[in-house]
Amino acid sequence: MRILVTGGAGFIGSHLVRRLLTGGDNFVVNLDALRYSGNLENLTDVAGHSRYTFVLGDICDATTVEKVLKEHGVKVVINCAAETHVDRSILDPNSFARTDVVGTAVLLEEARKAGVARFLQVSTDEVYGSVETGWSKEGDPLAPRSPYSASKAGGDLLVRSYWTTYRFPVLITRGSNTYGPNQYPEKFIPLFATNAIDDQPLPLYGDGRHRRDWLSVFDHCRGIEHVLFHGEPGCVYNIGGGNERENIAVAELILKILGKPMNLIRLVQDRPGHDRRYALDCARLQALGWAPTVLFEDGLKETVEWYRTNQTWWRKITSGEFRTYYERLYRQRLQGAG
Ligand SMILES: NC(=O)c1ccc[n+]([C@@H]2O[C@H](COP(=O)([O-])OP(=O)(O)OC[C@H]3O[C@@H](n4cnc5c(N)ncnc54)[C@H](O)[C@@H]3O)[C@@H](O)[C@H]2O)c1
Repeated sequence: MRILVTGGAGFIGSHLVRRLLTGGDNFVVNLDALRYSGNLENLTDVAGHSRYTFVLGDICDATTVEKVLKEHGVKVVINCAAETHVDRSILDPNSFARTDVVGTAVLLEEARKAGVARFLQVSTDEVYGSVETGWSKEGDPLAPRSPYSASKAGGDLLVRSYWTTYRFPVLITRGSNTYGPNQYPEKFIPLFATNAIDDQPLPLYGDGRHRRDWLSVFDHCRGIEHVLFHGEPGCVYNIGGGNERENIAVAELILKILGKPMNLIRLVQDRPGHDRRYALDCARLQALGWAPTVLFEDGLKETVEWYRTNQTWWRKITSGEFRTYYERLYRQRLQGAG
């Protein structure tokens, strides 16, 4: 199958590209604008693969998207390209609306015009908003509360409209908090692992009791692939890891794995509008035969170990442009923290 993965140089996209290449006879085109989190080093092992092509380009650019779809005879589109970090969305909301809403619109329309057979939108549990009790089902109303999740929800609604209006065969996956190797070190688990390795404080928002359901990137990619091949067009599928934990418990586990003292944890001023809890009901996808396979404690240990043994990968990032952003965001908050 000829598959276009957008955002394939990012965290989830790169694992997905590898899985699609090595697990079948697919041809994979990776269209990525190489924004700050896009990193071709995530794919060095498959860069020379005979069924793999990388194209530098923006999903908001209709001419590029049209050309890629045509030149490579693309039959399936998986949209992983996005602005993804909530903290950044608070500082710069417009870039999220641009890529996550307008970029999705451009991609959808070009894919429809090109007669693509399946369009899978990779979305997030954050579109349901904060869920104090119970578990979000796919039909629940969307109640996003950050510019990131609102932009993702906008993308989801556009995708759904292409099914109701054009019967264009779309699918949406809503994954929970994902972790694993190659995740940009601003996100919770890699930030805490890399800080702990350097004996730096772990800046934990608010009271640290926010709850997330952790999903291994390997299970997430298996879920996306499962929905692609077995999902019903027009449907949404939740993908959760079944590993709900308080953030403070995850921080403690990272320190324990690295043998570092618990007093590295610093409670800092909470993120504005910080969602308290996300939780997914995944019965729909489980009925299709998918289930998570990675136990959180095992997956976290392997991930922390990856950051410990792949310091060249993340130190290039943390010593570059990222440092300015990181210092602005976290170091200030650490000042005066308890
Ligand atoms: N990481 C998670 O916990 C998580 C959970 C659920 C869903 N998701 C979703 O999965 C997808 C991938 O997330 P990720 O964590 O891998 O993000 P990431 O930030 O690591 O990767 C995003 C990729 O998109 C590329 N990109 C950004 N803007 C682009 C544009 N305009 N055109 C082309 N490429 C562009 C970047 O260069 C980067 O390679 C996103 O849609 C995200 O909403 C992520």
